[in-house]
Amino acid sequence: MTKIIKVDPDNPEEDKIKIPAKIIRKGGLVAFPTETVYGLGADGLSGSAVRKIFIAKNRPMDNPLILHVSDPSMIYEIAEANEIAEELIEEFFPGPLTLVMRRKEVVPDEVTAGLDTVAVRMPSNKIALKLIELSGTPISAPSANIAGKPSPTKAEHVIEDLWGRIDCIVDGGETEIGIESTVVDVTTYPVEVLRPGGLEIERLREVVDVKFFKGDVSIPKSPGMKYRHYAPDAQLQVIYGKKDEVVKKICELYEKYTKKGLRVGLAVTDRKYYRAEVIEEMGKTPQEIARNLFDVLRRLDKKSDIIIAEGIEERGLGFAIMNLSLIHI
Ligand code: TXA
Ligand code: MG
Repeated sequence: MTKIIKVDPDNPEEDKIKIPAKIIRKGGLVAFPTETVYGLGADGLSGSAVRKIFIAKNRPMDNPLILHVSDPSMIYEIAEANEIAEELIEEFFPGPLTLVMRRKEVVPDEVTAGLDTVAVRMPSNKIALKLIELSGTPISAPSANIAGKPSPTKAEHVIEDLWGRIDCIVDGGETEIGIESTVVDVTTYPVEVLRPGGLEIERLREVVDVKFFKGDVSIPKSPGMKYRHYAPDAQLQVIYGKKDEVVKKICELYEKYTKKGLRVGLAVTDRKYYRAEVIEEMGKTPQEIARNLFDVLRRLDKKSDIIIAEGIEERGLGFAIMNLSLIHI
């Protein structure tokens, strides 16, 4: 049985969070909200607890996990923070940034997939912070979806994917940012962005020099990069360019696929430009789009063979959104 516990995201009730904290301490699995997406947490210092995460999610064991802390002082027990790490921690923790640093001995191989580095993040979500604090251990957590599905931004998404496979779901409402954290390797200089996410690259650049991972993805530096993320079951096409051209192109494709008997779903910024049966609005600003995107993809996925989405400008959160391993056409 999976227990569901509803918690107030603004004023998390401590007595309610004691229950999932106890589950974590006993080696169980708890899904919980962060400001990015829901995570699937286990005691990050227990190899056997961490192994359960991979089984519940169907996640390949060679894709390492992020350790979540509730206080910067916890970082030094699990990782070696160099000067640049210190600067980024000072500037951006708590928040949607994950730092890859040299690991310490206490971190189990299950977390790091045997690498000599460990990914660490301090979420800003109050429920997440309280849960980590009461558990008294760093919590290892990937996104709480079945591998290959869009990350969950609501408790309902977690229920859809993991009901019956985990011990507890803490329902703290919709997540604020809606896409995952930005992952940065600080063991090299310039620091290397392994995954664009909720912290805009422009903001990182104000503090450090940044380069992008461009290696051979079949020999992964970030093992996660060889896997397809966020992929809905339906085929996904992203159309970008000038607004009126995008609308025109999407309408053409809609006609073409519909005539072939395919079910087409549209993910758009404004529905008034379209006449389609299955259509969802993502929002207008990059912030709104980030918040709604995974929910929209999940909803369309249930009703479509092909999803056609409007692309957006690759600036600010738009850069992360357009780099979510979507299939660009
Ligand atoms: O916002 C987030 O980051 C969410 C919430 C729950 O915190 N978590 C999340 O975890 O997205 P996950 O496991 O879905 O993505 C973590 C990414 C993966 O691409 C993984 O390969 C990479 O971080 N990663 C983890 N440890 C690493 C390491 N030591 N070196 C390089 N990449 C690492
Ligand atoms: Mg994930």
